[in-house]
Amino acid sequence: MPLLFPATESFISPAVAAAVAPAYILRPLSSSDYAAGVLDVLKDLTTVGDISEDKFLAHFEFMKARPGEYFMVVFEKMETRKVVAVGTLLVERKFIHECGLVGHIEDIAVAKSEQGKHLGKHLIEALDHIGKASGCYKNILDCSPHNEKFYEKCGYTNGGFEMVSTTSKRRKDITNLNRSNGFDRLQHD
Ligand SMILES: CC(C)(COP(=O)(O)OP(=O)(O)OC[C@H]1O[C@@H](n2cnc3c(N)ncnc32)[C@H](O)[C@@H]1OP(=O)(O)O)[C@@H](O)C(=O)NCCC(=O)NCCS
Repeated sequence: MPLLFPATESFISPAVAAAVAPAYILRPLSSSDYAAGVLDVLKDLTTVGDISEDKFLAHFEFMKARPGEYFMVVFEKMETRKVVAVGTLLVERKFIHECGLVGHIEDIAVAKSEQGKHLGKHLIEALDHIGKASGCYKNILDCSPHNEKFYEKCGYTNGGFEMVSTTSKRRKDITNLNRSNGFDRLQHD
């Protein structure tokens, strides 16, 4: 099964993999994860939209063609062979700090039925491991206030606040989503 990046020990934390085994495996996103329900898990985070398998695969290939940039990891539940948690580390190349690298943690989601089992915490540990292996001098993320305590438990501290400028199309989507879902869900996508 084609993986987004190599499942070597430098990228896939042996400690996290051992902590979730044998019920779950930690691995890079695979091109077969469309069928394994990765987009359904992301729907527990925010709106995903109607994405065809072809579009998913084109996106997958785009990311795979940029090694060292896109690290999407999943937990697959062995009993069902479904993806139950997903998270991304995006590695940004800067000029400051002597061409330093910064890891951006994005789109963290654990399936509702699997929440509260420390999978979210292990997901962040797995992405921190990749950030370290990639040479990032820090990992950063945005979150809504109701998730602040979760990230504190993962070793993160509040480093300020986020400013947002959306496109007019996105602003319309957000307004519509606000009406149906409540403001809170929009703070972190
Ligand atoms: C937020 C989320 C990723 C947490 O994942 P999870 O697997 O349920 O959380 P964990 O079981 O790993 O929690 C780790 C610790 O944080 C605590 N915690 C988790 N969510 C919390 C919250 N919202 N507020 C306070 N504490 C929280 C847990 O109680 C646990 O504490 P413990 O170590 O003392 O037992 C998950 O609830 C989720 O996917 N939510 C929907 C999408 C979302 O909001 N994603 C985050 C985007 S920024």
